[in-house]
This record gives sequence, C-alpha cells and structure tokens, in this order.
Amino acid sequence: MKPNFFVTVFLCITLVSSFEDDDEASLKLLQSYNIDYNSVIKDEYSRIMVEDRVDEVSVKIGILATYFRVLKKLVAWGMEENGFEHLYPTPEYDFDMNIGEECKKGFEICLDSIISNISEIQPWIMQDNIELEWVSRMIKELKYRVFSELSLTKMIDNQRLGMEVSASQILCYLTNSRIKAFEHIPYCAYRIQPVGSRAFIWTGKTFSRETVLDEFLGNPYECATESFCPDPCCSRIPSVVRASPKYAPLCKMNQCEKKSTCLLKHFENDDLSKLRLNQFNINCGCDKPGTIYRPDIGRCVHHNPCTKQSLCRDFGQECVNTATGYKCVCQLGYFKNESNSCAPLKLSPTPYHGFALSESMEDL
Ligand SMILES: *[C@@H]1O[C@H](CO)[C@@H](O)[C@H](O)[C@H]1NC(C)=O
Ligand SMILES: *[C@@H]1O[C@H](CO)[C@@H](O)[C@H](O)[C@H]1NC(C)=O
Repeated sequence: MKPNFFVTVFLCITLVSSFEDDDEASLKLLQSYNIDYNSVIKDEYSRIMVEDRVDEVSVKIGILATYFRVLKKLVAWGMEENGFEHLYPTPEYDFDMNIGEECKKGFEICLDSIISNISEIQPWIMQDNIELEWVSRMIKELKYRVFSELSLTKMIDNQRLGMEVSASQILCYLTNSRIKAFEHIPYCAYRIQPVGSRAFIWTGKTFSRETVLDEFLGNPYECATESFCPDPCCSRIPSVVRASPKYAPLCKMNQCEKKSTCLLKHFENDDLSKLRLNQFNINCGCDKPGTIYRPDIGRCVHHNPCTKQSLCRDFGQECVNTATGYKCVCQLGYFKNESNSCAPLKLSPTPYHGFALSESMEDL
C-alpha cells in the first residue's frame, strides 16, 4: 500500500478539526480500558471457566493469534513497509472506535467482533482443514522479496489496518494484564519462516479439542505476547536481520548496553493508551535487585511495582515487592484455600473461664 502523499496532505488539511474531535473521543475510550475494565474481563473469564467453555474461547484466541503473527510480519505500513513486528504504526487517529466500543462490552463480544470483522475479508481464518493457500503463496513471494505485491496488503486499506492494529493493541493489553485466557493458546506452532528456510505450512488441522491441546507451546503468555504485542526489544529478530543495516532503525528502542538484556515486563506495559503510542517501559536487566531501567534517563532506578494499583486485585490479596518483581499474597487475616484464593480466616475463640487481666494490665 503506497498512500498518495498529496492526497494525504490534502485530507489532513481539510479534516484537521474532525481529527481533533476523533482524538479526544478515542483518548477517552482508550483511557476507559483501565483497572476496572480489567477486573470485569477477569470476572467474565471466571464465568467462562465455570461454564466449561474455556476450549471454545481458547480456539478463538488461537485463530486470532495465528492471524496476527502472519499480519504483523507481512503487512506493509505506509512507506516503510516494515510490518509491525517491532512497533505499532503510529498515526494518531487510527484507533478504531468501532472495535474499541465493541471490546468494551465484554471479552467474548470483543473476540467475536474481531473475528467476524476479519473473516469478512479473510475467510480462511475460520476454515477447517486449511490448505492455507494464500499464506503459502505469500511465503513464496517473500522469498522473492515482492513485499508490495502481497495479496494481503492489497486487500487492506488504511481504515481496515487501523481496525486490525487496534484489535492487536487491545489483545496485547489483555495479554499484558494477564487475563488467564491468554496463558496458553493453541496453534502456536505455526510461524512464517525466515527467508531461505524451508516453508512450514500450517495445515490448519481442525479446530477440535484434541489438536487444541496438542499445540500449546511455550511458556505462559509467550505465544499471546508474540502474536499480539510488538517486540521493541527486537528479541525475536532473526540473526540475518541483526547482521544487516536494517537492524538499527528497526530496533532503535532497544538502547540497552547489552542488547540481549532488554526485557518488557508485562505489568509495566499494560496501559492501552501508552501501548498504542509505542510508549513502552523497557527494562535493561539491571544488576541490582528491585531496580528498573528508565529509558528516559538511561539509568537503573529503584522500583516498587506494587505502587501499581492493577496488581493483586483479587479478593483478599495484597502485593509484595520482591527482588525480581512482585508477588500476590493473602492479606493479614486471610489464608490461601484449596482453590488458591484468599479466604477470610474464621476465628473461633476458645472460651476463657479465668479472671480478667484488666487490673494487672493497667499496671503495665
Ligand atoms: C469492520 O471494521 C471496519 C472498520 O472499523 C468497519 O467499517 C466495518 O463495518 C466492520 N465490519 C464488521 C462486519 O464488523
Ligand atoms: C476459596 O475462597 C474463595 C474466596 O473467598 C471462595 O470463593 C471459594 O469458594 C473458596 N474455595 C474453597 C474450595 O473453599
């Protein structure tokens, strides 16, 4: 997609005022994705667990994750044509109000509306037993480096990409908020392979229970993070790119002295309005425990993650600052019960039949 520069400038001039209104409305919407919303989604997911529909929801997330892994790698954005693996594209007005409003209604509504919107244009994402025809075509095209000819990018206009980037941002926000649905997701084996290696085609299998369980891969939240969130640390970058001149501009946010220490901690990157602007809190793996790297001053400073109110919000919990981050423990007067929740201690005082001690206590 190569937006015509003059048309863009013209549109900008004529639409400045409406963009300002849009900005305000979208900022308000973004900011409403806050701690309270986060708890509402956690509650909704607990209901899904009770209703035994976890697999069903898992499949939907797995499908979206696969789609976004492909899209992030291959889609061209503006003139740069870099995809948005490392950073989100940043025009100020691209947050999609439609999807933003839908996702505010609830978790399942959110997943369903993203899937239905995408499958309108990319019907393959909902098919069983897929010979992922266009993906294999794209892999071939990738080999010949015909990025601009990609069928996918031709089908996507700016508004659509805006919707897809917004969806990816919301899903990343939910992943970083540690909504349990994102902990292990299916179909994570599917990857677009680096140029030159043998293409590994996703056969699609069927979206059935058996394959869902087979294909869980990686550490908790790893697949969701890779699928929905950008990688400003460039830790997933192939060594071919690392060795090329393309590397520096792509990975400019990783200013760590030792590049490999760059880390994004989920609880420092769970604010949707900041994610959207690529304002990441990058951690450079400071040597001293309890310190974090602040990219603005380029130094390790003392840090207490527990000052963030979004942590440890479950009933009876409190946050404790540890050397490596934080831990959720039960508040005083609560204990961890069989279902791993904090429940109030029930005290049954033993009756006392002796003399009152008040006199001798007054002496103290
Ligand atoms: C998909 O998203 C675009 C962009 O917001 C919107 O114009 C379109 O109506 C949506 N389609 C569906 C089926 O939700
Ligand atoms: C554990 O405590 C939570 C919160 O009080 C409660 O909802 C849950 O039913 C308890 N589980 C068991 C097994 O007692």
